[in-house]
Order: sequence, then structure tokens, then C-alpha cells
Amino acid sequence: MSAPNKTYDPVEVSALSDEAVASARDAAVAAIAAAPDLDALKAVRVEHAGDRSPLALANREIGALPPAAKAEAGKRVGQARAAVKRALEEREVVLAAERDERVLVEEAVDVTLPVDRRPRGARHPLTTLMERIEDVFLAMGYEIAEGPEVETEWHNFDALNIAPDHPARSMQDTFFVGSPDSGVVLRTHTSPVQVRSMLQRPLPIYVICPGRVYRTDELDATHTPVFHQVEGLVVDEGITMGDLKGTLDHFASAMFGAGIVTRLRPSYFPFTEPSAEVDLQCFVCRGASVGDPHRPCRTCSSEGWIEWGGCGMVNPRVLAACGIDTQRYTGFAFGMGIERTLMFRHGVTDMRDMVEGDARFTLAFGTEV
Ligand code: PHE
Repeated sequence: MSAPNKTYDPVEVSALSDEAVASARDAAVAAIAAAPDLDALKAVRVEHAGDRSPLALANREIGALPPAAKAEAGKRVGQARAAVKRALEEREVVLAAERDERVLVEEAVDVTLPVDRRPRGARHPLTTLMERIEDVFLAMGYEIAEGPEVETEWHNFDALNIAPDHPARSMQDTFFVGSPDSGVVLRTHTSPVQVRSMLQRPLPIYVICPGRVYRTDELDATHTPVFHQVEGLVVDEGITMGDLKGTLDHFASAMFGAGIVTRLRPSYFPFTEPSAEVDLQCFVCRGASVGDPHRPCRTCSSEGWIEWGGCGMVNPRVLAACGIDTQRYTGFAFGMGIERTLMFRHGVTDMRDMVEGDARFTLAFGTEV
């Protein structure tokens, strides 16, 4: 700022000359008009209307003028600054409108685009197979029974007539929860649900129990430490092995095709007497491959039958352990592995495919719900 000077004449102060003020104003107005967007306008505002702009500096010079000159110079500079301010305001309105319009176009959301293009995977074939089995039995009037996977040794073994020295109770097969003498295990089969059903449900009983079971097996192509079984149990008056056989045949044909039957081979389970292995007639060759080297069958290894599960008449000792009158009631039970059923029903050769959770495996079974 120039020093106070009584003889100061505004026209002699270059910053306050007519031309200087007019050209600062014109330069500002031109720069404002040329600003292409709001950011540029902000820079123009600093340069032409900020504290260090030519007009602001000129304004400060006014204070150094003699009083007579102040009014005239103040008016000119004030008008120039007002013109710049107005130009800034008007340009800002225009540029803001342009920006809003651009944003509307550039940031438009196309609501007709698909939300999620990633594949959703599919329900696991073990789940859908279990539900299909449930449907077969629900249609016959059975109920679905469930039980805990963490089970007492009494339900898993003792009540099923499996003595403490039975091999199934050894450390080899059973996951114990806590220490081996905790009395609590991960259920090794779904048969404890038989026991729970007989203890809890009113007679007669017609239930099936699909569920997860555990055994201390290493995971390989044919074993997995966590797998699934489906257990069937009927307790009623006058139940015979003929009822068992008819039920299994119906189950077989519902799952594998009309006319497919089962075969019972004598066997032993502590909780059934008599006991049998359930074989399924081969649903691919229906026995035609047996003894015919020209027609080998991969599904049954040309044996005509496929091992499917175990079954038998409920041992009266098990009925008695559950407080059922063995003079009046008899029952049958059966149990199958779901993984095994899925393997030969769908030609799955490696059980690890079922536990790895790769959607490419599950998707191959379709996306049924
Ligand atoms: N619980 C038996 C098993 O896991 C199968 C079975 C169930 C056998 C019911 C007979 C009756 O091997």
C-alpha cells in the first residue's frame, strides 16, 4: 500500500486509474465466462475476487487517498467488484446446473440390470436325496424323527443291546466327547433315534430318521468320518418280517425304479433279531449281467445285487429297555447310508466330492429346490 499523501490523486495511483480498474474488471469477467466448470471457477474466484486480486489490492489503496478522492475511487472500485461478484454468481448457477445434469447422466443406475451375476450354487445332493427318501415314507404315513448328534453312550449303545465290550464301542470307531469315559459320544449311527422315539412317542410308531453320524474313519474315496444314514422304525401289534420286506421293496422301487426289489441276507446286529443285510436288485442291469461276460455291469460289478444297508426285527431286549410290552408289540428297523446310496444311484465314484463343497459337483445334480 502506498504511504498516506495529502496530495494523492487517484488517477495518479496506477492501481486506481480508470483503465486499471476497468481492465481488472474485464479480465475477471472474461475469466469467469471462460471457466469450464465449478473447480475452474473456484480458481478464478481466488485470482480475481480473492484477497490478493487486483481489485482487492486497488480497494486497499483507497484508504491512502485524500478524503475528497476517496468517494469517487471507492465508487468505481465498488462497482467493478460488484460486477465481478455478480458475474461469479451467475456463472456459478450455470455451471452448477450443468454439473447436476452431467451427474444425472453419468451416474445413472440401470435398474433393469441383473443384480447378482454370480452363480448361486445348488443344494447338496445328499440333502435332496434325504428329502426324497422322506417323501417316500411320509406318503406311507411315517413321521420324521430327529435326535441329537451329540449322544449319550446309553442311547447310542447300551439301550441298543450293544454290550460294553462290543467292538463298536472301542476307540477305533467312536468319537468320544471329552474323555473316553465321559459317557458322551458323537452318534455312530442313527439307531439311538429308535430308542428316543420308543421312549417319547405313543405307540404305534412309524418313523424314519435321516441324519448325520460320525465314525473315526480317515477321509478317502469310500470313507468319510462324517456321513449320513436314514433309519426306519416301526413298532406296532402284529408286525412281521413280511412287513419289513414289503416296506423295503416299496422303498427300493420308489428310489430306483418300478419293479426293483430287495433281498435279505442273514446277518447280525445286537439291536435286531433276526437281522439281515439288505441288498438292492441292480437297477441298471436288473441281474442280466450275472454270468454274462459280454454284458458287464459297472453298477453292481456284474453281481446283480448291491449291498444297501442293514435291517431286522427289533430285538425284544431293545423294546423292553424302552418300556414297551414285548408280548403285545413287535417291530422292525432298517438303516442305510445316504452317501452310499448317492454313490451308486448317481455313479459318484469318490466320496470326497461330497464333502469338499465344490459347487461344480452339486450343480451337476441340477438346481432343484
Ligand atoms: N445302525 C446300523 C449301522 O449303522 C444299521 C441298522 C439299522 C441295522 C437298523 C439294522 C437296523 O450299521
